[in-house]
Amino acid sequence: MIEIPPKFAGRPPVNPATLAKIGGGSGSYPGATGLAEDVRHYGAWMRAEAEKRIGHLYPTVEITADMARERPDLKPLVGQVLTVIAWLWARTVKSPNPAFSHVDVPLASTFVLSSKEGKQSYVQPVVEGDRYRFAVKFGTPPPDANEGTKAPGRGANFRCIVSDAVVDGNYIKAEGQAGRMGAKLMAIVAEGVRGRIYLSPTEEIEAVARSAKPTWKPSGEVPARLTGGTCVPYGLREWGDLFTPRQLVALTTFSDLVGEARERIRQDALAAGLPDDTRGLEAGGTGPQAYAEAVSVYLAFAIDKSVDYWSSLCPWLNQPKNEIVGKTFGRQALPMMWDYAEANVFCGGGGDIVTQLEYVSKYLVLCSVARGLGVAVQADAQTQEISARKVISTDPPYYDNIGYADLSDFFYVWLRNSMRQPFPTLFATMSVPKAEELVATAYRHGSREAAEKFFLLGMTQAMERLKKLAHPEMPLTIYYAFKQSDTDSDSGTSSTGWETFLDAIGRAGLQLVGTWPMRTERVAAFKTNVNVLASSIILVCRKRPTDAPTISRREFIRELNAVLPEALDEMTKGSADGRSPVAPVDLSQAIIGPGMAVFSKYAAVLEADGTPMSVRTALQLINRFLAEDDFDPDTQWCLAWFEQNEWNEGLYGEADVLARSKSISVGGLAEAGVVASGGGKVRLLKWADYPSDWDPRKDPRQPIWETLHHLIRALKQDGESAAGQLLGAVKSKSEATRQLAYRLYTLCERQGWAEDARGYNELITSWTAIETAAGAVPEGQGELFQ
Ligand SMILES: C[S@@+](CC[C@H](N)C(=O)[O-])C[C@H]1O[C@@H](n2cnc3c(N)ncnc32)[C@H](O)[C@@H]1O
Repeated sequence: MIEIPPKFAGRPPVNPATLAKIGGGSGSYPGATGLAEDVRHYGAWMRAEAEKRIGHLYPTVEITADMARERPDLKPLVGQVLTVIAWLWARTVKSPNPAFSHVDVPLASTFVLSSKEGKQSYVQPVVEGDRYRFAVKFGTPPPDANEGTKAPGRGANFRCIVSDAVVDGNYIKAEGQAGRMGAKLMAIVAEGVRGRIYLSPTEEIEAVARSAKPTWKPSGEVPARLTGGTCVPYGLREWGDLFTPRQLVALTTFSDLVGEARERIRQDALAAGLPDDTRGLEAGGTGPQAYAEAVSVYLAFAIDKSVDYWSSLCPWLNQPKNEIVGKTFGRQALPMMWDYAEANVFCGGGGDIVTQLEYVSKYLVLCSVARGLGVAVQADAQTQEISARKVISTDPPYYDNIGYADLSDFFYVWLRNSMRQPFPTLFATMSVPKAEELVATAYRHGSREAAEKFFLLGMTQAMERLKKLAHPEMPLTIYYAFKQSDTDSDSGTSSTGWETFLDAIGRAGLQLVGTWPMRTERVAAFKTNVNVLASSIILVCRKRPTDAPTISRREFIRELNAVLPEALDEMTKGSADGRSPVAPVDLSQAIIGPGMAVFSKYAAVLEADGTPMSVRTALQLINRFLAEDDFDPDTQWCLAWFEQNEWNEGLYGEADVLARSKSISVGGLAEAGVVASGGGKVRLLKWADYPSDWDPRKDPRQPIWETLHHLIRALKQDGESAAGQLLGAVKSKSEATRQLAYRLYTLCERQGWAEDARGYNELITSWTAIETAAGAVPEGQGELFQ
C-alpha cells in the first residue's frame, strides 16, 4: 500500500495493449498511474482467462414459455437470456422425525427475496409427501414467509418442512459436526432490465453447481470462539468449509492465475525494455521481476477483496435501495449463515472481481499524489524499535472489540496461496501470529479478568515504549474508536475498555492534553441494520515529567473548577480563527480532554484514604461540569441527546460516543428503558412509549429521566393522584425529578418545542398536588404496586 507504489512511480505500464496505444512514446504516467493501468489490464486478462476455464460453472438462464405459465410477470421476458447475479441456497439437515430421516430439510431464515413495492418476490415451498421443492413467486408474500422455516422464539431452532417436527439447535449442531449438513438451491437471482428477477431453481441448475470439483481448499481452523459469533459449532471447522465447491474452484483458479499473470508481466516488462536486475521485491529489486511481483500483489488484493463476497457466509441483502450479495464480514465475526447467496463471479456486478480490481486501481491512482517512500515493518508494539524519534500517530486495538488476528486468517489463507512464492518470508507461517495480539478476549486468556489484565499490562507496555521512543517535541496521537459495552462486573474489578485504555496511558507515564472527537468511520460500510461507530476519539498525549507530584481529591476538584469552565466556554463558542463549536453530542467527550489533562499531569490523585483515584471516578467528576445538577450518567446522556435530537432518531455511532464519555453504554440505556436502539439508529422513548405497568421497586436501573417521564405519563393518563402514587414510591428522587422538569421546560422553550414544553410545564404546575398525593404514600409502598 505505501511501499510498492513509490518504487515504480512515474513508470509507464508494460502491457503491450497500452504500449501499442501510446505508440512507442512513454506517455505521462505520474505516480502509480502506470501501475494502476497494468493492474486493470492484467486483472482483465485474468478474468477472461478464468471465464474460459470455469465459465461453464456459471450458466445464464433463458426465460421459457414454460416458466412464464406459472409466472405471468415473466411473459414479456420469454426468449431472453439473463445473466445470473446469485444463487440463493438454504443449508439442510436430515429431518429429526424418524419417519422422514431420509429427507434433507431446509434451514431457511426467511422466504422473502424482495420486499420492494411492486416487485415483491418470495419462495414458496411445495410439499408433496416426503418430497418438497421451491417455487419462486411474484407478489405479496404470505405473512409467515418472513420466518422461513424458523421455529418461533430465539435461537437456531427450525421446523421440519415435511413433518413440522422441531429441528432444534443442538440437533443441527450434532448433524453439522457429523458432516451431514448440506445445501439446497432456493432461488436464482437474475439481472433484468429494470432490477432483479427471481426465478425458481431447477435440478439442472443445481447439478451444475454440484459438478464443481475443487482441487485444493485452505486448511487451518476457524476460531471456535469469537467475539460476535462463529459458525464452528455447526461443523464449519476449517477455512475451506466456508466455501461452496464452486467458490473453491473459482478462488483456486484466480489464485493460480496470479502466478501465471506474474510470469506474463515479467515477460512483457522485459519486452518493454525494463532493465533486468533479476531481483524480486523481497531482494530490493526494481526490474521486470520486482515489477511483475508488484502488479501481482494488487491482483491478489483484488482476489482477497472478492473472497469477502465469495463465501457461504454471505447473505442476500434484501434492502430497500438495492438487492445484492452481502459481504462475509457484514460485521467482524463469522456467525453461521443459514441461507446464503453464492455470487456469480462473472456477473459484472458487485460480486465480480472487476469491481474489486477497479477499487484497487483507483487506490493506486489516488495514492499517486503522495510523495516520498513509505516503509511498512511488522513488529510487536510492546518491543518495537522503529518509532524512535518519530512523530507518532497510532490506531491501537480496542479492548475486545475485534479479533483481528483470528479473523484475518480468512483472507490470509488465500493471499498465502497466491503470494507465498514471491514473499516466502512474509508468508512463512500457515496462519497469522496471534499470541502477542493486544486484545482482551476471554476465550484466549481463560477468563475475563485474565484478559483484562493481559490487555492493560500489554497496552501499558506498548504505550511506555511509544513514550520512550517518541520525538520529545511532538505530541503522540492515539486513535480510539472503542464501541462501549457494559463490561462492568458487580465486584467493580473490571472496568470498561475506555477506562482501561485511559488507565494504560496514565500508567505508561503519559499525560493527556486533549481529546478530539473526529468523524472517521464510514457508516455505510456495514450492513445498515447493525449499530456502528461514527467517530474516533483522538487522544493527544505528552510525556509526564518523572517528578510529577501527587495531589489530593480536594485539590483535584479545585483545579477542575478553575480549568473546566473556561475550556467549556471555548468549546461551545468556537473561536475567531474559524474553529466551529463542538457539537452538543461530542461535548461530553471533548471535555474529557482538559479534565483528564488535569488528572494525568499528576503521578496520582489521592483519595482521602490515600488510595489513588480511579479513572472512572475522575471521569465522573469531570462530567459533572457539564450538568449543573448532579444527575445520574444516564440522565445526563438523555439531556445531551435530547438537546441535539429531540425525539428523533440519531446515529448509533453518535449515541455511543456520548455514552462512552459518561462511562455507560447504549445497551445499558436501552435496558434502563429510556431509549430504543436498532438498525444503526437510536431514539429517546417518549412518555407515551413507557409501559403503564412500571414498578419502580423492580427496576434495577432507574435514571431520573425515566422517573420524570413515567410521572408525565401517569399524570397525562390517570391524573395527579396516580402521579402522586408513583412519586410516593420514589420519594428520594423527588427533588431531582422536579429540577429535571424545569431544566427540560427551559430547554424546550428556548428551542421552540412548544408541545414538549407543555408536558413539562403541566408537571411543574401540578407538582404541589402530586407531592401532596405522594406524601400520603410511605416510600416504596405506593398502593399502585401492592
Ligand atoms: C484498530 S486496528 C488498526 C486499523 C488500521 N488503522 C486500519 O485502518 O487498517 C488495530 C491494529 O493493531 C494490531 N495489533 C494488535 N496487537 C498488536 C501488537 N502487539 N503489536 C502491533 N500491532 C498490534 C492489530 O492487528 C490491528 O491491525
